Amino acid sequence: MDKIRIAFFDAKDYDKASFIKSNEDRYQIDYYETRLTEDTCRLAEGCDAVCVFVNDDINKEVIDRLVEMKVRLIALRCAGYNNVDVAYAYGRIHIVRVPAYSPYAVAEHAMALLLTSIRRIHKAYIRTRDFNFSLNGLTGFDLHGKTVGVIGTGKIGRIFIDICRGFGMNVIAYDKFPAEGSGIEYVSLDELWERSDIISFHCPLTDENRHMVNGETIARMKKGVVLINTSRGALIDAESLVEGIKQRKIGAACLDVYEEESNIFFHDYSNHIVDDDTLARLISMPNVIVTSHQAFLTEEALTNIADTTLDNIAGFFENEYSINEVCYKCPSVNECKQDHKKKCF
Ligand code: NAI
Repeated sequence: MDKIRIAFFDAKDYDKASFIKSNEDRYQIDYYETRLTEDTCRLAEGCDAVCVFVNDDINKEVIDRLVEMKVRLIALRCAGYNNVDVAYAYGRIHIVRVPAYSPYAVAEHAMALLLTSIRRIHKAYIRTRDFNFSLNGLTGFDLHGKTVGVIGTGKIGRIFIDICRGFGMNVIAYDKFPAEGSGIEYVSLDELWERSDIISFHCPLTDENRHMVNGETIARMKKGVVLINTSRGALIDAESLVEGIKQRKIGAACLDVYEEESNIFFHDYSNHIVDDDTLARLISMPNVIVTSHQAFLTEEALTNIADTTLDNIAGFFENEYSINEVCYKCPSVNECKQDHKKKCF
């Protein structure tokens, strides 16, 4: 039997390194730097699967093209799947994902951003490199005793909560599906906005919570609130965020994700003029830290991503039960009957 062939889009050096190591020549993987779009779909001609990441846009047209070319599987090498039209894919092409690769990586990055921001490490680092040892303007505040509002108490949110508790912070949380018996103090979103000194986002992006941070919700927040977003950019309306910072309502923002990141993040634009004025304004602010969707990027996570993605592909083509299949009709494994040859359809 011919080797299963996979077109791997948006490939970075670190992806290739971990997949080459994990694959050990099992499958033929064609690595492409370009993202998967209507225009680049044809690169998947003759392939059995495509492997994609957070900023590949898997819309109806892309799905139709893949199906026409007889590609049978979309293997997401990430957890979130808001970039895939899953409802349209149902019945046409299967989707698998990596539900967890290192929740620690993301939660630890969220705390790293918070500490960097409030203790002004990003400023101090640049100062001392220039032999400027002045402390003026570097005053921070203790995390101990502060209230952190955590939105989304799944794998990452809970680890972030544990880290915060280690710092002696008071934790309150909002989740659409609160975890009973978890010992977490759940509150309404309104209460969370009003009581939190720091707010950290760890929920998926859905139509319902897009721009949950907007002019109206910012108005409810405490003056000086610190926002940390390692989840998905569009949870925050970036223009309202700029306004909130300009009005001194928001004390600091730590952003690992950004609504319009897909054409910018992961690329080197250091010799270019970036067109996005909102992002440029945010980056120019001394109390904003932006990282380029980097929270997942640890050795452990990359190894888990490669291993799980290749296992998902093996499971699919060997017709086994796959717990990592994405299906809008199967919100959880328990509710999925998987009665169609052990796959979602
Ligand atoms: P998870 O599925 O374990 O937890 C998500 C939690 O959010 C669940 O408890 C769920 O009930 C809750 N939730 C669902 N809809 C909600 C809503 N409308 N409002 C509030 N809560 C809601 O997911 P996990 O692994 O903890 O990941 C969380 C998010 O982190 C992902 O959706 C993804 O967007 C983001 N992420 C970011 C990465 C990065 O590198 N920056 C890497 C991995 C994930």
